[in-house]
Amino acid sequence: MKTFNIVVLPGDGVGREVTAAAQHVLRAAEELFDIDLRFTEKLIGGAAIDATGDPLPKETLEACRACDAVLLGAVGGPKWDGGKRRPEEGLLGLRKALGLFANLRPIRVTEATLSHSPLKSEIVRDVDLLIVRELTGGAYFGKKTRDANSATDLCIYTVEEIERIARVAFRAARERRNHVTLVDKANVMETSRLWREVVARIHAKEFSSVEFDYMLVDTAAMRLIQKPRAFDVLLTENMFGDILSDEASMLPGSIGLLASASIGNGGPGLFEPVHGSAPDIAGEDIANPVGAIVSAAMMLRYGLELPTEADALEGSVAKVLASGHMTADLGGKETCSGFARAVVDALRRSFWASKHYSQMHWG
Ligand code: IPM
Ligand code: MG
Repeated sequence: MKTFNIVVLPGDGVGREVTAAAQHVLRAAEELFDIDLRFTEKLIGGAAIDATGDPLPKETLEACRACDAVLLGAVGGPKWDGGKRRPEEGLLGLRKALGLFANLRPIRVTEATLSHSPLKSEIVRDVDLLIVRELTGGAYFGKKTRDANSATDLCIYTVEEIERIARVAFRAARERRNHVTLVDKANVMETSRLWREVVARIHAKEFSSVEFDYMLVDTAAMRLIQKPRAFDVLLTENMFGDILSDEASMLPGSIGLLASASIGNGGPGLFEPVHGSAPDIAGEDIANPVGAIVSAAMMLRYGLELPTEADALEGSVAKVLASGHMTADLGGKETCSGFARAVVDALRRSFWASKHYSQMHWG
């Protein structure tokens, strides 16, 4: 049996309930498949500020460094506005400390949620795109200054930072529809002009069989809702990726559906839903756990190299959505914990159905 150590960071707001839902599903996967998942829970974000004064306590970082994968809920909330430390520092610090420079945010529209998108069905049907967001550079990490009359956030990228994320995007495209669109603001920003040069060079030298084009970020924001099927892989810098992924979440209909994987150079990855802590609905058991459960599936796939188990989780989530279970964000009445129970039932049913099938055929 394979054993994996997982650090769970529920964080703030609905982070706790959605990670509990994901863990519930992972426990069921553990029972069915030959794996042993050892969960350790640690503090991050506002919860960590309240308990220790630090949004990323040393103990949390050490546990994350030593584990096989990290599953995170969400951080932040108005409670910590104006304080000395911000919850978001914890998450940004963790991404940087673990070297997680590549953030993969897949967005797929299925028939189940089609009518819940605020956009017309004919526009969003069959959308299947992947945002590859650079995660440890740019304005979020550049030097910050502040005086009485001004403030700055330096947007800085090195050639090496661009090269490594470009390779992630081109490799991902090869497994998909073989098309990368670099999203930038090269008509204005020097960093974007560097991105174009470097990505074009990596394309020509290493990935010339992949279709490659550029798009300005303002145009991309428009195209994403006008003609989203035109995209396969969108490669972009940190802030543009942050913004465009929230926009793109409206294609399937709710940000609660979106999952993400943050990966680096072989160390433990970080897997988290794209949504925030939603303090207004925290504790009510009505948050959508799909983003967290599919993030757990991405953890199995990319973090622990368990693709069969990952497929089983994703397939079960799809079945539960298709059978009409939906949380309030999608206009339904299902609870967060109830949705997780339904996924566990679906997982067990399809596991035993496949066992039965293989026994009939192979004795
Ligand atoms: C995200 C979030 C974070 C980010 C915040 C919470 C720091 O918006 O993961 O998209 O900006 O990266
Ligand atoms: Mg964001």
